[in-house]
Amino acid sequence: MGTTCGLKIDPLYRYVRALVICFILLPCIQLSLGAKIRHFKWEVEYKYWSPDCIENIVMAINGQFPGPTIRAKVGDTISVELTNKLSTEGVVIHWHGIRQIGTPWADGTASISQCAINPGETYNYRFKVDKPGTYFYHGHLGMQRSAGLYGSLIVDLAEGEKEPFYYDGELNLLLSDWWHKNTHDQEIGLFTNPFRWVGESQSLLINGRGQYNCSLAAKFSSNTSISQCKLRGTEQCAPKILHVLPNKTYRLRLASATSLASLSLAIGNHKMLVVEADGNYVQPFEVDDLDIYSGESYSVLLTTNQDPSNNYWLSIGVRGRLPQTPQGLTILNYHPNSASKLPISAPPVTPVWNDYNHSKAFTNKILALMGTPKPPINHDRRIILLNTQNKIDGYIKWALNNVSLVLPPTPYLGSIKYGLKNAFDQKNPPENFDSINYDVTKPPVNPNSTYGNGVYMLGFNTTVDVILQNANALSANVSEIHPWHLHGHDFWVLGYGDGKFSADKDEKKLNLKNPPLRNSAIIFPYGWTALRFVADNPGVWAFHCHIEPHLHMGMGVIFAEGVDRLSTIPNEGLTCGLTGKMFSGQKN
Ligand code: C2O
Ligand code: CU
Repeated sequence: MGTTCGLKIDPLYRYVRALVICFILLPCIQLSLGAKIRHFKWEVEYKYWSPDCIENIVMAINGQFPGPTIRAKVGDTISVELTNKLSTEGVVIHWHGIRQIGTPWADGTASISQCAINPGETYNYRFKVDKPGTYFYHGHLGMQRSAGLYGSLIVDLAEGEKEPFYYDGELNLLLSDWWHKNTHDQEIGLFTNPFRWVGESQSLLINGRGQYNCSLAAKFSSNTSISQCKLRGTEQCAPKILHVLPNKTYRLRLASATSLASLSLAIGNHKMLVVEADGNYVQPFEVDDLDIYSGESYSVLLTTNQDPSNNYWLSIGVRGRLPQTPQGLTILNYHPNSASKLPISAPPVTPVWNDYNHSKAFTNKILALMGTPKPPINHDRRIILLNTQNKIDGYIKWALNNVSLVLPPTPYLGSIKYGLKNAFDQKNPPENFDSINYDVTKPPVNPNSTYGNGVYMLGFNTTVDVILQNANALSANVSEIHPWHLHGHDFWVLGYGDGKFSADKDEKKLNLKNPPLRNSAIIFPYGWTALRFVADNPGVWAFHCHIEPHLHMGMGVIFAEGVDRLSTIPNEGLTCGLTGKMFSGQKN
């Protein structure tokens, strides 16, 4: 009976199968023809290296510093098998700017999306890149970004698509700052009473290269200084020369992985046209110099229309803090000039560090390119976060609405999904502060704060506003810049303002017409910044100051949304250590 039945159904089954293949699967296969899986096998280990011509240790990937550049196309899947070869520390890597839609366990945040990968173990990061742009990756445990664990991640348009601007060539600059004191030493200092601040970095690096104390800038005109600088180090610290041809347009991709420094970048004699910010197109605008804060990325177009018989300096310098770090330099080399031909004019001077009007003017020019999705006009929830410097048992901390973040041992993603109520504080952290009485222009009257690890549980698909409110730090007349970065989303930057945010006065000033979509935004000293995003990406997402010592001192909050909608979380994302893999015998 069964067989007769089977025989009868068989032709129909084959017909249906053919239909399915022709009309449903084939187009899918064709659509994804261009999309690739890009496999990488990486090993993280400490290595001796001379990033600024002084030998030190760095966190290298496959023996390289900075780590290898990942280049992919929209639609591709990136697969990084990361093996921890450090002898005594865990490690994770975060893919900064990639939203991880559908793969929150691949976000690479220790204690949030996964356990730190133990020494000797391997974690497989597998995620799709869905948006073209300039991104980077970095360590997200302790101060491993400061230790040099970072590299570039560039996503090109899918085959056949066109950028909304033209360029002939591309140059990629990953910016960072570098300390001679190792990060363990730095970290202990931050958790010591009396507090020991990390101080200003010794060098600024461009693609992992700087020249400590070489005074390239001061002695730019003497040919001996540059050769001395080169002699002092190995190949590892020689500036990466930017080779260009006259009368062409280049796309400079810039990303800042600094631990602390806010930077200004300029190129002698040349203007730059800003076209991309954090993986989103912006209305093009021209600048002589550009501010770039930790966690931000930009693309600028540079036209090589200056005297082709000269070379030109590209310089980066510190903004927002009294600079004690020399400028980082490299040379824009017009071919066929020799790369060692020094520019005839001095490197561009960085604007005065505390000229905030200059920075504000730049920031306010960043607007979305036409066609960028617009924000919903109303918000469902508004969280106001007061940024303060505080004390807990005499230790200096940063806090949001008086809560200083300390991450729990069990990662949030698994504990929320499986309802492990003891894994973290179940109370919602404060939505606001006493905005009537708190004076943001003075040091906190009561500097005492508390530790916390609660989560802002966001309703799925709701529109969330975050108002970041800056304030005075512990010492009088000090308020710092903080570059805030959100995981899992882009947000619209609705506006910036001075003083205390007031719903009555400031609401109508918010830009709902063409606010830029970004994943990072700063708060200026004594100012506020208004952001909006839609909580539509199931996962647990960090939102924090991208200054690494500040994050380490508690300057962050955790958002979660739609975790119940995730059908599975790979075992690797749930368990710490190899156990999970051994039991399941599978790899995600
Ligand atoms: Cu690039 Cu959580 O940061
Ligand atoms: Cu900060």
